[in-house]
Parts: sequence; C-alpha cells; structure tokens
Amino acid sequence: MKQIMQMLEQNPAEISTPCYFYSISRLKQNFNALKAALGTQVILSVKANSNTDLLVRSTNFMNDGFEVASISELQTIVGGDRIRYVNNPSADKKFFRAAISGKARLIIDSIDQLEIVAELAERRPPAGVILRLNPVVLKQFNNAHPKVRPDQFGMDWDTACTAIEICKEKNLPLMGFHLFKGSYSFERSAMATVDSVKIIIAEMEKRYGQPLSFANLGGGFSERWQEAKFDYDAYREKLAELPQHITLAHESGRGLMASIGHFAVRVRYVKQIDNEYYAICDGGIAQNFLLAQTENTLRRLRTPTLWQPQPSDEKAACKFVGSSCSKDDVIGKQSEDHVLPQPGDICIFDYCGAYNASYTVAPFLQLPAATTYIIE
Ligand SMILES: Cc1ncc(COP(=O)(O)O)c(C=O)c1O
Repeated sequence: MKQIMQMLEQNPAEISTPCYFYSISRLKQNFNALKAALGTQVILSVKANSNTDLLVRSTNFMNDGFEVASISELQTIVGGDRIRYVNNPSADKKFFRAAISGKARLIIDSIDQLEIVAELAERRPPAGVILRLNPVVLKQFNNAHPKVRPDQFGMDWDTACTAIEICKEKNLPLMGFHLFKGSYSFERSAMATVDSVKIIIAEMEKRYGQPLSFANLGGGFSERWQEAKFDYDAYREKLAELPQHITLAHESGRGLMASIGHFAVRVRYVKQIDNEYYAICDGGIAQNFLLAQTENTLRRLRTPTLWQPQPSDEKAACKFVGSSCSKDDVIGKQSEDHVLPQPGDICIFDYCGAYNASYTVAPFLQLPAATTYIIE
C-alpha cells in the first residue's frame, strides 16, 4: 500500500484506472513463509492469478512448480527447467499432447485420461504421471478423517487401483498421487489427512510394485492463512512420519496470491439519493466481480483506502459503485466515520490478488479491462 501511495503522490495522472497492482516481493514473502511453515514443496495454482508478467518474474524464486489447468496457462510458464503440473478433469488429447511435449507432469483425473496418455506415451513418454485421488479415499483409509464436501474430481480407490495396473502394464512413469479437498479446507483436516496418506502410500506402492516418489497433499489455505489457529510445528512433525523417499508438496492459489494484489478505481462522480451517498467509480463488477460479492448470500462489502489529490475532511457513510448498469455493481462501502470521497479520488481495495482479475464478467457492456502494474 505504501508503494502504491508513493506512485500516486509522484504522478497520479499516470495511473490508469481501473487497475490492479501486484507486488512481486510480497509474493516471494508469501511463498517463503508457506514453504517454511509446511516444510514441503509449495506449488502455485496458476488459476488464482495468471498474469504473464507476474508469473514470468516469479519463476526465479517459485521453483517447486506451477499447477496449470489450460493450454494457455501451460504456455504462460515458460523455460525448460520450470516444473509444470497439468491438472484438469476435462483435459483432452490436445492438452495432454502439449503437456507431454512441454515435459509437464500429468495429474490424471480418470481412466479415460490415462488411456489417452498411454496412447500418446507410445510416441513420447510423459515426464511423470500422478493420479488424482478423490477425497473419499481419505475417509476410506482413516475413519476418523473429518467429512470432506463431495466433489467430482479424481478417482475413488477402486478406480485408482485400475489406474495403477494400467501404469504398470503400459510402463507409464507413476510418480504418486494428488489430493485436493477444496478451498479453505486445510486446517480442519490436515492432520487426519496425513494419517490417511501414510496408508495410501503403502497401498499404492504394494500394488505398483515399486516405490513412489511424490505426493501432493493438496492445499486449501485461506487468503490470511498466517492468522489462522493452526500448529504448523506439530504438522511438520506429523509429516516427518511419512516415508522419506517421497517428495511432499502442497499447492496454493489464494494463500500465495490474494495479499499481493490491490485493485484501484477512480471516483468520477459523487451523488446523494435521499440520505445515501454514492461514489460512482470508473470500474467495478466488470473488472473485479468478486468485490461485488454477488455470490454471497450475506454481502460483506469491503471498505477501500482513499487517496485524495485534494484532501477533504467532510465525513459520511457512502457506497462505492462501478461503471455498469447492474444494480449489483456495488463494490464497497464505508461507515460515517470515513472521509466522503470526492471526484478524482482513488479508492484502493486490498487482498485483490487472487481470482479478482480473472473470475469476472468482463465482456458485459464491453467495458475496458483493468490495467496491471507490477510493483516491487
Ligand atoms: C486442484 C486445485 N488446486 C488448487 C486450487 C487453488 O485453490 P486455492 O486458491 O483456494 O488455494 C484449486 C482451486 O479451485 C484446485 O481446484
């Protein structure tokens, strides 16, 4: 925020709003902190923020790998030594072909996908095959495992056993398995998952007839995972119970990306309807759908920090609305103890680095896309 304020002080006219600011140093800090807390590899889920400039500049420190879900994401992470994991239940032959030629590791969601890979492998073997296990498997191997919300991803145990047989038969390089229990799921079941994983490793190795080398235990870290009550020391001790020949990894999107991003809009007009003030901004739901909170039954709108070219001191409650004609284009609000915005003011929202730029309704009204600034 300090850096953004400095940029605005120096040359406000140069900042083209609506815009996102992404901080490289904050991304590095988040990555190092999560890696230290877990004591394992940390893989970035590119879907949280696939900004090319940001990703290209992060490849020099983000060296445990990138999880990609599309050919475009795959192509964004360039450079021969970058480890890429392809993971999408609807990935087709074209995607797998591109992944194999790019030496990516393949996270396999179903037998159908494995058959495609086996066929492609006859010409060119993949860098590695990882079976995605559905979370139902966790409960199967540890009855004390907390319930995980059912989902459509990965394989149940019987299917995974068939997949292991296919890997053996077709000589596919099976590295291990991948788990993902959903966003915000980490703290609730992390310890119990390790107990399940211990048995899963042993069972898979028995069936495969060879040692595995890799297990991705998933993620589910929140935007503010550092503030959650969770004993990471105890977790690292628990992980040490797993066989040493297995490289362990976790993956994160929002836990790494959310806090690195700020979103800024300029106030164009301020008006009053009855007793309610509205700051009408040059961007909103079209550039940052998530801020509008339309998917939440309880809309908890955020309060932006205001940068004023000409400071004012009148205080009032106010709603911040965007530039579309949707009633739902309300991206923030402030209470009466805040300075009332003026036209030309810039409203800055923090924690906008994950999904805000990508999970959006941009084509609506053909409004302009947000500009992106990468800052130190
Ligand atoms: C397989 C997988 N991994 C990682 C993520 C990233 O989740 P988050 O941003 O909550 O860390 C997702 C999100 O959908 C996912 O499906």
